[in-house]
Amino acid sequence: MNFTTTDDPVLLARTYQLFREYFRLAEKKRRWSIDDDIPWDQCNPRLTGVVADIIETYCAVELYLPDYLGKQMPMVRNNRGKAWFLANWGYEESKHSMVLGDWLLKSRQRSDEQMADLDNQVYANEFQLPYDTALGTLCYTMMQELATWQNYVHLRRIVQDEGGDPALEKVLSLLSIDERAHYNFFRKIVALYLERDRETTLEHLHRVVYDFRMPAVGLLVNSQQRMAQIRALKIFDEEVFFFQVCVPALADLGLTKADLKKRKSSPARLVVAGS
Ligand SMILES: [Fe+2]
Ligand SMILES: [Fe+2]
Repeated sequence: MNFTTTDDPVLLARTYQLFREYFRLAEKKRRWSIDDDIPWDQCNPRLTGVVADIIETYCAVELYLPDYLGKQMPMVRNNRGKAWFLANWGYEESKHSMVLGDWLLKSRQRSDEQMADLDNQVYANEFQLPYDTALGTLCYTMMQELATWQNYVHLRRIVQDEGGDPALEKVLSLLSIDERAHYNFFRKIVALYLERDRETTLEHLHRVVYDFRMPAVGLLVNSQQRMAQIRALKIFDEEVFFFQVCVPALADLGLTKADLKKRKSSPARLVVAGS
C-alpha cells in the first residue's frame, strides 16, 4: 500500500506534531520585525550595483509567493500539519520580499517606479511547480530551502567583503535563519516519508537531485544575466548545489549518492525553472 499519497494516519499525526514544534520555536525564538530589527539608518550607499541587482533578483523570486502557496495548498488540504505549516511559511516568506524591497528603496538603489516595474514582471508570468505531486514538491522544496539559505549566507559574506552594509547584513542574517528553519522542517518531513515509504521517496529525491531548478528566475526579464551574476560571484552554481546543498541534505537524511544511484541515473544539471 502506498501511504505517501494521502492518508497514512501515522504520517499525518507525526507531521502535525512536527509542525506544532516548529511553530512553538518560531513564536518563541524567531519572530522579527521589519521596522524594529533592521538598522535602516546604516545602509551603505557605496555598495556595488551588482549586489543590488542580485538583491532585486532574490526579491523577485520571493514575490512569486502567491504561486508557491496557491499551488501547494490544494495538494495538502487533508494534511493539517503541512497545510498549517504552509500558512505559517507563507507569512514568513511574505516578509522576505518586503524587507528586500525596503532595502532596495532605503539604500536608494531602486526607485518606487523601478520596484513597481519589478512587481509587474512578476505578475506577468505565473510560476508553475516543477513537480505535480505533494511528495515531489516536498523533496524539491527541501532542497530549494537549503539552496536559498546557502544563497543568502554567501551573499552576506560578499557584502562584508565589499565594505559592509549593517542594514543588509542584518536582513540577510534574519532571512538565512528563516530559510534554515524551513529546510529543517521539510527535511524532517522527508525523513518521515523515507521511514513510511522508502522506495517512493528515494525515487522522488533522485528526480529532484538530478534535475534541480532554482524557482522562477527564468520568468524574469534578463534571466540569463541574473543567473550569470549569481554564478560569477560563486553564490550559487552546479558546484555549490552539489557540494553544499545536495551532499549535506542527503547526509542529514542518512543517505548517500549510492542510495540514489540504484535508480535510473542521469547527468546532474542546474536549470532555471520557467526558462
Ligand atoms: Fe524566503
Ligand atoms: Fe524559505
